[in-house]
Formats: sequence, structure tokens, C-alpha cells
Amino acid sequence: MTPSLADDIAEVLISEAAIEARVRELAAEISRDYAENSLHLVGVLRGATIFLADLVRRLTIPVTFDFIAISSYGADTRSTGIVRLVKDLDESVESRHVLIVEDVVDTGLTLNYLLEVLRQRKAASVEVCALLDKPARRRVSAAAKYVGFTVPDAFVVGYGLDYAQRYRNLPYIGALRPEVYGG
Ligand code: IMP
Repeated sequence: MTPSLADDIAEVLISEAAIEARVRELAAEISRDYAENSLHLVGVLRGATIFLADLVRRLTIPVTFDFIAISSYGADTRSTGIVRLVKDLDESVESRHVLIVEDVVDTGLTLNYLLEVLRQRKAASVEVCALLDKPARRRVSAAAKYVGFTVPDAFVVGYGLDYAQRYRNLPYIGALRPEVYGG
């Protein structure tokens, strides 16, 4: 039989249906909160692309979006602690109401760096919408205003999240079998 991506998943943590329902709730909340202000989303490549694509289609307010890429990992499952800007935004955020769309807040280092960059560039406001929060591994304080799900300290993949660039296309979020990453 052809090996399937799903064979590497130890457990499905968040089903496709649960993600869809939560994305609708988040979009309703964000649409209410930004009813008076035009909203500019900053998606963090590449993990947040699928979440952002689903989220924007549920927002009922006008919205623009741009992408930024930050690196703190190699092909490993642990942050190196060194955050670097890999791809900058195409547009200025000055005087705009920015909502960072992130896949997961883990150590908090990426978010901390991003918040600093966007504030320096004089955004009118900066908030964060994270699909997942993994508070157990936080190294610096970083709070997201909107959180999809809080997850335990496991390496998770799917719905945009990768291990060595794979598994992003799984429609659910699952824990990877430790033997896949030598854990
Ligand atoms: P932080 O800087 O440690 O908060 O890490 C944020 C980035 O690490 C996320 O945007 C993800 O790209 C990656 N990351 C953290 N935990 C996981 C995970 O469990 N699976 C996949 N990627 C992760």
C-alpha cells in the first residue's frame, strides 16, 4: 500500500470540524471588534497561510492582508532562540490597525520580535490572532488577544503547521509520532 501522511500521526488533536467551527467564532469576534476600524492582517509565513485563508473568508468586514516570514527553527522541532526576518512585508503598516495572524505561539520569541517590529513601524494598533497557544513552553511573555485552541506541549502538525516542511496539507491538527522526528 502507498504510505500516507496520516500514518505518521500518533493522534488527531483537533479535527477538521472543530477547526472550522472555531475559525467561524474567531472571525465573528474579530468582525465585531474591528467594525469601526479598517483591518490589516499580517500573516506569518508559512504556517499561518491556511488559517489566514479560512479566517478571511469568514470575516464580514473589509480587510487587507500582507505576509512576513520569520525564522527561528532549522529543520528541527526546537527553536534556536535566534529570530531573523526572512521576508519583509510588501506594504507599510504605519497608522494601520494590524492583526498578526500566527499559527502557534510556542516560546513566544517570534511574536515578541514581530510585535516590536510592527510597533517601531508605527502601526495604529497591533493585536495577535493565533490558531494555537502552547503556554507550557513560553520563554518570553507574548499574549495573543484571539486564540483558537490551547494545546499541550507536543509537536503538532497539519492545517499549515509543518515538520521539515511536510504535513502542512493535513486538514486537521495532529501530534507527530516521536519516531518520525527522532524524539
Ligand atoms: P516561537 O517563536 O517559539 O513562539 O515559535 C513560533 C513558530 O515555531 C511558529 O510560528 C511555528 O512555525 C513553529 N512551531 C512551534 N511549535 C510548533 C509545532 O508544534 N509544530 C510546528 N511548528 C511549530
